[in-house]
Amino acid sequence: MAEFYITTAIDYVNGPPHLGHAYEKVLTDVIARFRRLMGDRVHFLTGTDEHGQKVQQSARRRGVPAQQFADEVSAEFRALLPRLSISNDDFIRTTDERHKRVVRRLLQQLFDQGDIYLGEYRGFYSTRQEQFLQEKDRGPDGTWPEIYGEVSEITEPNYFFRLGARQGWLVEFLAANPNFIFPHYRQKQVLEFLREPLNDLCISRPRERLEWGIPLPFDERYVTYVWFDALVNYYSAVADRPGVWPATWHVIGKDILVPPHAVYWPIMLQAMGLPLPHGILVHGWWLTGGEKMSKSTGNALNPLDLVAEFGVDAFRYFLMREMNVGQDSEFTRTLFLSRYTGELANDLGNLVNRTLNMTNRFGGGAVPDAGADGEPERELRVLWESTRDEFLALCEGFQFHTALERLFAFIRSINAYIEKRAPWKLGKSADEADKALLRTALATMAEALRLAAAALRPVMPGTTDDILGVLGHQASGSWRDELAWGSRLAGSRVAVSRVLFPRPQP
Ligand code: MSP
Repeated sequence: MAEFYITTAIDYVNGPPHLGHAYEKVLTDVIARFRRLMGDRVHFLTGTDEHGQKVQQSARRRGVPAQQFADEVSAEFRALLPRLSISNDDFIRTTDERHKRVVRRLLQQLFDQGDIYLGEYRGFYSTRQEQFLQEKDRGPDGTWPEIYGEVSEITEPNYFFRLGARQGWLVEFLAANPNFIFPHYRQKQVLEFLREPLNDLCISRPRERLEWGIPLPFDERYVTYVWFDALVNYYSAVADRPGVWPATWHVIGKDILVPPHAVYWPIMLQAMGLPLPHGILVHGWWLTGGEKMSKSTGNALNPLDLVAEFGVDAFRYFLMREMNVGQDSEFTRTLFLSRYTGELANDLGNLVNRTLNMTNRFGGGAVPDAGADGEPERELRVLWESTRDEFLALCEGFQFHTALERLFAFIRSINAYIEKRAPWKLGKSADEADKALLRTALATMAEALRLAAAALRPVMPGTTDDILGVLGHQASGSWRDELAWGSRLAGSRVAVSRVLFPRPQP
């Protein structure tokens, strides 16, 4: 069986992680867990992007060596992963020896092949900021803003990668692989970008200006341009593991699709003679007040604050339920609280408690054997079967927000079923038929809850274990088996009570 290899972007270490970074990890984790449950062999990679001008500058501002600075911030990103229940198999740092070795090997190969050549870089340079500027850095009146000090046009010898020579190939590749980029409409943006001729890519920086990078193997006076270094992480992490490359999906945000992931990376791989990934999954941005959440605008939320207040699974649920993968979403506390209270505490949390309560009151603390189904039981079972099939298909297509919407509609239907059967009334009756119906009702609600909890596993793994635990159930066999309606709980002893989503402190 081929490996399902999935990656996240690797985060810059020039600032602490925020909600946008956390979202990408959670989304990738949900896909990884889903695929494992569907029986795939999964390899899940994440990591940190540590070289370049910005990291060097941040380290200088703090007055520490770049390596020490990168070590500290990378450790912070890494520590976030278990707190978000991320099930990554590997964590790569671009300062790892294993990565640097592969970058240098590939650069040498491209140089030997003639895909890298020495040329002249011409551009506007700010001596005060020690960086080349771009047209977008100019003020609205065409002048350079004060922060850049004196700006002059200079030329500098540098190495270039022949990007332009493979432009035609890339256009053909995208035409032949219309599903290379998800969502589909983003592929059009790439083709639009490719309508203009591609310049070759400057892949070196002289060391006198930038020390913090991987030296070029064929000219040690230069270090490697940070994107050329960073993109290789997806391959370098598995270069020693036969059968893993190519990646199945690279999960990234929309800001880094064009040109790095959709143009540089496919052309780099093609030039290196390596197979291309199956696809690139592009998510949108979390916004606050209509603006992209980011460390530079100062509107970034620390994901750990939400995890501390509401628990990791509520956080994961909100991110996956709220965002339609590919589009942007506004993050507000009001939205979060509304889903937390309405869907998690009321719909799901109450169902758990009602089920436990009634099983204790009317079933002596154990789930009874179900008798013959009546119409409400048949309806609920049919609804489960269609919900499950839809849920799985939606997850396969990355439509997690709709998948969860359907699942929670089913959870509400279990609550409605309980209202209809009203076990509290049946429990008062001495009639044998009512007693049999009561047993059926208790068995049915417990089984339906077990199924809903089992389906939640990729999104809320802790909650699934929690609910199955209080129902006295040990999951066994494949996930698909677990998702089949049966009478797996007959005789299980349930817990007395369990509050899964406590009311938040005002
Ligand atoms: N280091 C590069 C990626 C190199 S991949 C070979 C980078 N780093 S980043 O730290 O700026 O961003 C990492 C990921 O987080 C990117 O995919 C980016 O789109 C994502 N997000 C950063 N802010 C975001 C939001 N506000 N919302 C959602 N995701 C966003 O780019």
